[in-house]
Amino acid sequence: MKVVLTGRVPAEAVSMLAAEHDVIAWDSEVLIGRDELLSRVAGADAILSLLTEKVDAPLLDAAGPQLRVVANVAVGYNNIDVIACRERGVLVTNTPGVLTEATADIAMALILMSTRRLAEGERVIRAQRPWQWGMFYMLGTSIQGRVLGIVGMGQIGAALARRARAFGMTIAYSNRTAVREELAAELGCVRMELPDLLATSDVVSLHCPYSPATHHLISTNELAAMRPDAFLINTARGPVVDEAALAGALAAGQIAGAGLDVFEQEPTVLPGLLGLDNVVLLPHLGSATVETRTAMATLAAANALAVLRGEQPPTPIPA
Ligand code: DGY
Repeated sequence: MKVVLTGRVPAEAVSMLAAEHDVIAWDSEVLIGRDELLSRVAGADAILSLLTEKVDAPLLDAAGPQLRVVANVAVGYNNIDVIACRERGVLVTNTPGVLTEATADIAMALILMSTRRLAEGERVIRAQRPWQWGMFYMLGTSIQGRVLGIVGMGQIGAALARRARAFGMTIAYSNRTAVREELAAELGCVRMELPDLLATSDVVSLHCPYSPATHHLISTNELAAMRPDAFLINTARGPVVDEAALAGALAAGQIAGAGLDVFEQEPTVLPGLLGLDNVVLLPHLGSATVETRTAMATLAAANALAVLRGEQPPTPIPA
């Protein structure tokens, strides 16, 4: 059968697929063009997709009616039109679990970088600007004893909570459903409605999936509800935050700072953010370790292989 990759993935995943099927790989870090992709997917039985490529109705139709599975190499799958897949009987899978720890590491790193002004300090040294130890020089904010408010308490939110507790933070969360009692006891976390969480947290970290329901979940009113000494961290998806509203709030000192790993129009970053010292900007590195990317790609390959064998894939997206 024919398996088409929409982008370059670790060789381990390509070998797994090639052992059983014809693989049409894309062997470049340069993103595949839409027209090239539309012509490559023709006749595909499986597509291994990266979050940089949209899997929508025109792409599914270009593939043809034999297409059985779209295996996304990411836990987020907002690049895929799930309804269009369902209408065509195409199964969608993602890669939960394998990137939990790596992404929680980056969220914790952003908390430390923004509260302790680490990127700002590094910029001073690299620019060879004068500096001197001083009692009041580049003071940050301690996180010990502060409240971390987690929006979306899934696996990554819980993994961040464990890290934050080791740094002395206490945990609040907002989520559609309450977490299991054992997890709540382990994390010592309290559930709150989003407005209460925003008003009382010292650091707010976003871990919800992106969907029309979470588009601009954090915008002008939500930023105004946050404390002026609070920080906002986003390792979820860019459009969960209204970036223009955030840039305005940061410039006006309405909140103390932010740490962003994701952006509304990746790879473009809103110019209004670039000149601000109180925001840390990372180029979507949440899952970017060799081990994690290999695990993501091999899990996606295992998902595609299972469906092509007529078996249940290990990680279909939630129904
Ligand atoms: C994901 O898996 O959704 C991540 O954003 C990839 O880095």
